[in-house]
This record gives sequence, structure tokens and C-alpha cells, in this order.
Amino acid sequence: MKIVETAAEAHGGIAAAKRRRVLVPTMGALHRGHLELIRLARAAAGPEGEVAVSIFVNPLQFEPGADFERYPRPESADEELCRGAGVDLLFRPPVSEIYFADRSVTVEEHALSQTLCGKSRPGHFRGVCTVVTKLFHLLEPDAAVFGEKDFQQLAIIRRMVRDLDFRVEIIGAPTVREEDGLACSSRNQYLTPEEREQAPVLRAALLEAAERARNGERSAEALVRLVRERISAAPRARIDYVELVNASSLEAVVTLAPPSLLAVAVFFGKTRLIDNIQLP
Ligand code: PAF
Repeated sequence: MKIVETAAEAHGGIAAAKRRRVLVPTMGALHRGHLELIRLARAAAGPEGEVAVSIFVNPLQFEPGADFERYPRPESADEELCRGAGVDLLFRPPVSEIYFADRSVTVEEHALSQTLCGKSRPGHFRGVCTVVTKLFHLLEPDAAVFGEKDFQQLAIIRRMVRDLDFRVEIIGAPTVREEDGLACSSRNQYLTPEEREQAPVLRAALLEAAERARNGERSAEALVRLVRERISAAPRARIDYVELVNASSLEAVVTLAPPSLLAVAVFFGKTRLIDNIQLP
């Protein structure tokens, strides 16, 4: 596995090898979910292709007071996981390699970013779009894999790629879960034992709402109320949002009509978890 830490080396590597490259952008603290993204990247790259992983905790996508400083950075464990997963190229630049001190250009999506997490985390998706743009320019992947747990992020990146003519195929990967249904996330490790025990309520509530929808419930208000009630029953949970949205526009809907997405963001202590389910 080749390890690259500067922008110049990243560019150099491309000129040398023009194999099909599939990128898995991450912020590190790799877990089973990331390994699944890497597995899909390998499948998409093909036997002659190359799998690249980037690990970069992107300061631009953390709001002031969020967990940028304490975000886990287990460098050697991540490196070992990448090696074990057969990654060909690991790009893990320091912040100074990615952002000039006097940088003054960002990339912003203006529609899909206005709802869900965009409302609670102002500037977050501007940070994501900016860093993903830079990673695409630096590493020039043919394809990139993003998880569906971050459904809004995936939708925004697809839109950005379409609107700005990036020649990168975007591959969405189904959410990987713990046995009790909790979506794998680097932030799960912040949870106290009590919070961890209660966190699977997110998945349980979403599944119950999906079942209710399958049985004919069409009212967004009723479905959202059901999810709110179930989650509120967990003493450590504090709801940020529960919303039923159109899965393409991400705008709130009043009546369930496919494609719909039920999405939640919930704090357990200081840890904010998200999850979603597509409804029938
Ligand atoms: O999903 C993430 O881990 C990050 O938002 C990403 C896509 C790597 C950009 O920093």
C-alpha cells in the first residue's frame, strides 16, 4: 500500500498510473461500515483497478463548538485496517496540505442543503462539498463511494457532480448496522454505556413507521409523531429532527408518496446520531 501525504505526490501518482481508481473519502476512525465501502470500491475498481481511501478530518464541515478537536484520529489502527482491506493508496494529508491559510473559495449547494441536517448544521455541507471537490481534483478518481446513512450528503454530492460536470461516478452504499440495528458510525464510540443501550431506538422507530406505512398510513404527521414518541421514550434521547421528505428534493411532504425518506437526527448526550429509511 502506498501512503501519500502531500497534494503534489497525489498528483504525481495519477500521471504515473492511469488505472481505474475508485475513491472512498473518509474522516478516519474506520469501522465495519467503511470496510464495506472499501469492499464496494474494490468491486467497482475491478481486478486491474485501484482503491484509494482518503482520511481527512475536515475542519470546514464542523460548526464552531462541534467535535472537531475531539474527533477520533486512530492513525495506526486506520492504516492497518486499510492495509488489511487491500487498499492500494491511502491519502491522509495534514490540514495545511488541503487548505491555504488565506483560502477564499468554497463550493456550496443551495437547494438540498437547506433541509434536514443543513438546518441544524449551518455551513456543514459547504465544508463537505468543498473538501470533496478538492479530493476529486487531487486524486482524480473515476468513481467514489459514499454511505447511504448520510443520505443527504450523498444526494448533495450527486447534485454537485451533476451540476459542476465532475467526471466521477458516485456509488451509494447501503448502511451497515450493529447487531441491534444501530447504524455503524465513528461517533458511536462517544456514547456512554447507557446511551449506547438506548441508541438502537432510532432504527426500531424507523422500522415501526415503515411497517405502519406498509399497512396503509399515508399521513406524514402521523408517521413523524409515531417516530417522535418512540424515540422520546428513551430517557437519554433528545430529538434534533424527525422529518418525512421527498427522497429526491429532500423537501418535507404532507402525504407519503414514493420516493419518500424518513430521516432522524437525535442527540444522546453530546453525540448526534443520524439514520433514515426509505418508505414504500
Ligand atoms: O462522510 C464523511 O466521512 C465526510 O463527510 C466526507 C465525505 C469524508 C467529507 O469530509
